[in-house]
Amino acid sequence: MAKTKSIHGEWSSRFAYILAATGSAVGLGNIWKFPYITGENGGGAFVLVYLGCVLAVGIPIMIAETMMGRRGRQSPINTLSTLSTEASVNKNWHYLGWMGVIAGVLILSYYSVIAGWASAYVFKAIFGGFSSDAMQVKASFDELIASPLQLIFWHTAFMIATMSVVMRGVRGGLEKAVQLLMPSLFVLLIILVGYAMTTGEAYFQGLSFLFSPDFSEIDSDAVLTAMGHAFFTLGLGMGAIMVYGSYLPSGVSIAKTTLFIAGADTIVALLAGIAIFPLVFANGLEPGSGPGLIFQTLPIAFGNMTGGWLFGVLFFVLLVFAALTSSISLVEPVVAWMVENRGFTRVKASVISGIAIWVIGVGVALSFNIWSEFKIFDKTIFNFLDDLTAKVMLPVGGFCIAIFAGWMMQQKHVKDELDMPEQQYQIWKFLVSYVAPAAVFLVFLHVLGIF
Ligand code: TRP
Repeated sequence: MAKTKSIHGEWSSRFAYILAATGSAVGLGNIWKFPYITGENGGGAFVLVYLGCVLAVGIPIMIAETMMGRRGRQSPINTLSTLSTEASVNKNWHYLGWMGVIAGVLILSYYSVIAGWASAYVFKAIFGGFSSDAMQVKASFDELIASPLQLIFWHTAFMIATMSVVMRGVRGGLEKAVQLLMPSLFVLLIILVGYAMTTGEAYFQGLSFLFSPDFSEIDSDAVLTAMGHAFFTLGLGMGAIMVYGSYLPSGVSIAKTTLFIAGADTIVALLAGIAIFPLVFANGLEPGSGPGLIFQTLPIAFGNMTGGWLFGVLFFVLLVFAALTSSISLVEPVVAWMVENRGFTRVKASVISGIAIWVIGVGVALSFNIWSEFKIFDKTIFNFLDDLTAKVMLPVGGFCIAIFAGWMMQQKHVKDELDMPEQQYQIWKFLVSYVAPAAVFLVFLHVLGIF
């Protein structure tokens, strides 16, 4: 029988959990990644596929992953061992926990570098203010990216910040940070959307780019990118939401909280898109210009608008915090495991995992400049890690989670944990047992050219 409480502590309330889990979901994925991959993949049709994946694949798997965490009450690795024993299935399922730990480490190693860009922009905003000229804004971004020293400096600062929050544990560290910051970020995005509306014709061009689908724009890789992003943006498939679920008090409705979190996450991403694409068109920029997109567009808005200095500073501060509340969820599975199985203190576990992630991150930072010619499978270190995690590891992890929750666990236990009205339960059960795994499987077959 599963324990009723986690040894690592519990969220103090339902609200605290919602904040932490929304903090994990809302991050660079929504504001930095969603716009640039939408730009690279032609807009509307990509957005539609992404929304479909969130609904049919992301939400059911998110419910499953949280449910498993709460039932197991331990780090994902040990939760999977416990649950496989409970369900009398093969113990090898705990390797799924291991894959998640590795995915978390790899994701954070590049996430921290990008969060470092955002941190650098806090200082650019404070000391330089932003230029309203698109060429100058771009030059300033290029200059940052070209400097190994600056990138490593900011990556280091961000990793130290992440690990010092993680050290303090569930309540002390994670909860407090999120309460004020999430709502503020939301308000600033609305202000940016307000600015985007002043671009006139370009505003409508931006909206039409985002919302009028042209399916000739997307191929199988775009579909995989959209599906991978649904996992990435919700923080699924590697145990982050599983470990957060393990700190969730019993009695809180997993389905309701999940719907709220996924809804908030999607709205933030769409708002970011609505803020950014009008600026892209108003300034004759390229929608597909890649990972630098927000850093080459938003400063123009801040440079132009009244109060832009203040809003610019605030925006990048909040972006860094949004990244921070996501990154702590990426290391929590490995830290929880080290505490459980190695008997480390949280501090020791945080330092060790932090250093390992930092080292990989240095490679990522250099892949934007002096190592840009160094390729793994024809990709830079950054692109390789991004593709390996978002397009392979997370979907595979999510697929396995769906299979485990839908086919391995006993119905009675699942129902016990979810405590949903029968009809809703049946809908979820159908989605998680058939729709979600089939969707992931077909997309993989399609990409491999088999289907
Ligand atoms: N969801 C976060 C974002 O969009 C990133 C993130 C946090 C994540 N936890 C995760 C991604 C777990 C994958 C898995 O920025």
